[in-house]
Amino acid sequence: MRDAAPQTIFLKDYTPFDYIVQDVHLTFKLAPRATRVISRIRFAPNPDASDTTFFLHGEQLDLKWAKINGADIAPSITPEGLTAEVPEGAFTFECEVEISPETNTALEGLYMSGGMYCTQCEAEGFRKITYYPDRPDVMSTFTVRVEGPHPVLLSNGNPATSGEHFAEWHDPWPKPAYLFALVAGDLIAHPDRFTTMSGKDVELNIYVRKGDENKCAFGMEALKKSMTWDEKVYGREYDLDIFNIVAVDDFNMGAMENKGLNVFNSSCVLASPETSTDANFERIEAIIAHEYFHNWTGNRITCRDWFQLCLKEGLTVYRDSQFTSDMRSASVKRISDVIDLRGRQFAEDGGPLAHPVRPDRFVEINNFYTATVYEKGAEVIGMLKTLVGDADYAKALDLYFERHDGDAATIEDWLQVFEEVTGRNLKRFKRWYTSAGTPQLSVKESFKNGRYKLTFRQETPPTPGQPQKKPRVIPIALGLLDESGAEVLPTQILEMDKRQKSFKWKGLASKPVPSILRGFSAPVILKRDTDDVERAFLLAHDTDPFNRWEAGRELAKSTLLNMIENGAPPNAGYLDGMLAVLRDDTLDPATRALMLGLPSQSELTQTLSDKGVVPDPQAIYEAVQTLKLAMAQHMQDTLPRVYAQCQVEGPYSPDAEPAGKRELAIAALGLGSRLDGGKAAKEQFARADNMTLQISALAILLRQKVGDAELSGFYEQWKHDRLVMDKWFGLQVSAAAPEDAAEIADKLTQHPDFDHKNPNRFRATLGALAAHHAGFHHISGRGYTLLADWLITLDPINPQTTARMCAAFQTWKRYDLKRQEMILAEVDRILAQPNLSRDTSEMLTRIRS
Ligand code: PHE
Ligand code: ZN
Repeated sequence: MRDAAPQTIFLKDYTPFDYIVQDVHLTFKLAPRATRVISRIRFAPNPDASDTTFFLHGEQLDLKWAKINGADIAPSITPEGLTAEVPEGAFTFECEVEISPETNTALEGLYMSGGMYCTQCEAEGFRKITYYPDRPDVMSTFTVRVEGPHPVLLSNGNPATSGEHFAEWHDPWPKPAYLFALVAGDLIAHPDRFTTMSGKDVELNIYVRKGDENKCAFGMEALKKSMTWDEKVYGREYDLDIFNIVAVDDFNMGAMENKGLNVFNSSCVLASPETSTDANFERIEAIIAHEYFHNWTGNRITCRDWFQLCLKEGLTVYRDSQFTSDMRSASVKRISDVIDLRGRQFAEDGGPLAHPVRPDRFVEINNFYTATVYEKGAEVIGMLKTLVGDADYAKALDLYFERHDGDAATIEDWLQVFEEVTGRNLKRFKRWYTSAGTPQLSVKESFKNGRYKLTFRQETPPTPGQPQKKPRVIPIALGLLDESGAEVLPTQILEMDKRQKSFKWKGLASKPVPSILRGFSAPVILKRDTDDVERAFLLAHDTDPFNRWEAGRELAKSTLLNMIENGAPPNAGYLDGMLAVLRDDTLDPATRALMLGLPSQSELTQTLSDKGVVPDPQAIYEAVQTLKLAMAQHMQDTLPRVYAQCQVEGPYSPDAEPAGKRELAIAALGLGSRLDGGKAAKEQFARADNMTLQISALAILLRQKVGDAELSGFYEQWKHDRLVMDKWFGLQVSAAAPEDAAEIADKLTQHPDFDHKNPNRFRATLGALAAHHAGFHHISGRGYTLLADWLITLDPINPQTTARMCAAFQTWKRYDLKRQEMILAEVDRILAQPNLSRDTSEMLTRIRS
């Protein structure tokens, strides 16, 4: 049940819990519809608290009895929790509740997935398991007994005793309840071992359902690499005797860092060459690393309250991106991250859902697991490291781990260690955490008598609740090139810490060409009056791989905008530049493939609407098709040669090098198929022995509308594999023509294999529709209606996944009045549903404002 007016929670209202929890004992008697949870918790008054009210969170629990110090009590119960009279001093609270995992479709708390029991407690799911102070600053050791007939019974920490139909676990590290986990089922272990840097032997397992046991090896290698990397780079060692990972088919997010028992969406851990693409492998490696790294940044040091979410997420995303850069190609990783940041985070920051990296209010915390908290949160760490340098970053992190181990910390604590180590005042820098919106950085240049001057100005547009923006500290990595393309000034960091600031260089022989924001040194929108000549020059000469890519991307953008706005033909300079890139064997294939990619249609939309132009999704789509055809024609002779050169011999390996070759081959095939009617793609599909080649060929064929036979062949081959079927669902939507996308998605939702209760399948189908820019925004409005219909269906079943997908509507203000009206009508139709979840209603209310 939901209150009439959901409450807003404010950062400024933080107060500590009135009690400390000394230890927690839990017993689970598992049964699908009647699991009993018996708890014994020792409380003591918190000397730091001002008040003494004994309130425990608890939702949808059937309380059987409760006792304090062994005597029965009759607490008062509301839909949010339990209040009781308690004695002065320390006391023991006990209770027994009944819950129903089998009917728990929200996938929060204890639930069932494919016959196994599992839990998801972040952020506030533990309160659906038993009565407890479910807040991250309440930390305790846990002893857990699991009783059930299942061969595998798991919880956090180290195994204690076990016997027939029970197992006991003890977690010696105090933790908040959101890190609690329990898993039970008929699972198969993929075991391994790891010796830590101090010589401790750790047992490792990946637990999966029968049939998935041959998809664990890659994840296990990734785990061991992550453990080694965190020892080498951050000096962080694992701290339990055992580390378990479990793959679960029904999961709202990617994965969860529960102490010693990470729970993964099966799509983020299971991998095999036949069923997973190169991109899947890379993502799995990164997510395994991410969850493992949380053991220190998140678990040993956790968050005081949920406003501090970026403390663990921003830092852990930053750490996993460093890991991927070390394992693979640093520049390819940086370029991919920036593409993702611009696609998702900039859209969020520029619309009604904009919020600071550290928000100061929320209604439903689940709605704040966002690109801003995660990805921009990681960018902020990267900027901090750029500003203080690698050595001081390392010192500050050592101090952070030393000082705050065992704490529930804040962003203030985090910045404090940097201030102490460097002697800097980070007050202005802190605005990156407290102020929403993407700064626009404009730049003017002048050159006279060998003196060169760059003047930067920063401006951040208003965001909800923050009309005025103060200037932030922006680290600008800059290099200067002379007209021959030689570097006259190697990369240096300019600290832009005012609204406007100039930087000067003297003694230059001629006017240099600036390479600004190398490596994308700050998450800003660079506004520079420049021309295609300079862009082409940087594309050819810049020594910074990111800015080389960026120059190509800017060229593509200016070409496309000119086509969209003025009906111009594709720019010949761009086509020549891309042909040169394609032929440039000194560039690694992955980088070449990235350079050949075009800006996304939603990015073009944002650029147009920032310029005050109302974007037409269909016109944007057509311009992209026209440009791709022109590229194919211009590169006609070279494409087959590159395709042939990039064939990988021998057994499949997901490593960066062969994956990069395949990526470039696929890019060449995609362009070439616009001229050969899909002939070469059909051949690739027929001989493919791995998923990367198979699905990329299928995508190309579907786009050419010549892939019907392959599509049904693919279904017959893979209908037994849930994760591959997700691809089959998603691909048909993303490869559809704009006018067909909604209809195809609609048909797929009627397919017998469509299961809206499974978040992966739901996202594969309807998420693909929302991501198909011209299809979702097709003027028929069918995309909007279909998505709204399904959000209405899903909300009572799974509010979290519903609310996350509402973000598809966040860009409505960019579009023409007709589309705006259609979108708002759908938003209002959802909002008018009786008993709409707090999650969804908060999202739509914010989107509408
Ligand atoms: N904490 C998880 C992560 O980033 C994400 C998550 C949040 C998972 C909430 C489930 C629920 O790794
Ligand atoms: Zn995380």
